Amino acid sequence: MTDQGFPVDEIDTSRPHPARMYDYYLGGWDNYEVDREAAQRVIDVLPDIIPAARANRDFLHRSVRFLVESGIRQIIDIGTGIPTSPNTHEMAQALAPEVRVAYIDNDPIVATHAGARLTGAGNTGFFLGDVRQPRTILDHPTIGKLIDFDEPVAVLLVAVLHFIKDEEDPAGIVATLRDALPAGSFLVLSHATADFHASSLPEVFKIYDKATATLNTRPYAEVAALFEGFDVVEPGVVQVPMWRPDGPDPEPAEVRRIGFYGGVGRKS
Ligand SMILES: C[S@@+](CC[C@H](N)C(=O)[O-])C[C@H]1O[C@@H](n2cnc3c(N)ncnc32)[C@H](O)[C@@H]1O
Repeated sequence: MTDQGFPVDEIDTSRPHPARMYDYYLGGWDNYEVDREAAQRVIDVLPDIIPAARANRDFLHRSVRFLVESGIRQIIDIGTGIPTSPNTHEMAQALAPEVRVAYIDNDPIVATHAGARLTGAGNTGFFLGDVRQPRTILDHPTIGKLIDFDEPVAVLLVAVLHFIKDEEDPAGIVATLRDALPAGSFLVLSHATADFHASSLPEVFKIYDKATATLNTRPYAEVAALFEGFDVVEPGVVQVPMWRPDGPDPEPAEVRRIGFYGGVGRKS
């Protein structure tokens, strides 16, 4: 156990973890040999995974800025990932220090780092939870402490639902979260797709099949359908570099490399 009571002894170093593989793609150090080997095999067949991971992280930053500028002061960030600065609360609180953020991930390694890097001040919290049990997340005491469901809330599902199989009902998960939110709330979602790298993906799937969560890419229409019940804000669901870029639109050749769709929806 860590000082924060998180289960460091539950960390599995025998199988690659998606959170630690993503950390490796982003150039982080919070990963083990088993993760580096698996992530490197993905990079060998799909080198675009590195710009894609970075573009996804940049999308997270721009969308959080958009949320705060839209008046959001409370955020539930599910599938937090291993802390990578700037994290959601750092982005949000730089603009509005009163923003409250609840972080949730199901990976114990995220929990061990969360104590030091994601929590501390009274307006952020982390707990271990599984997006496949959205009701349990909504009812958690940390949510009760940080989130007021009478005021608009933003739910972040950034690069997490592609770890959920069809039979685990990703649309049903989003619907349960959506139904708990008051009008004026937001959904931020990004999702891996095979639409641009069809030939490399079978090999990538095989690598994730041996990890703690399988990879379930989805085509454009299925990702867009996850926004049911939300009004998708401009520019819609797009490849993540195209979502409100800072500066001019990125080059089409660069955008083609990015196998992540993302978007932001508002509940009316
Ligand atoms: C690719 S990382 C994304 C991190 C961050 N949201 C970002 O986009 O930069 C995916 C994260 O989702 C977490 N995750 C995977 N399956 C999950 C589940 N069923 N419930 C909660 N978190 C999950 C992983 O542990 C990992 O930290």
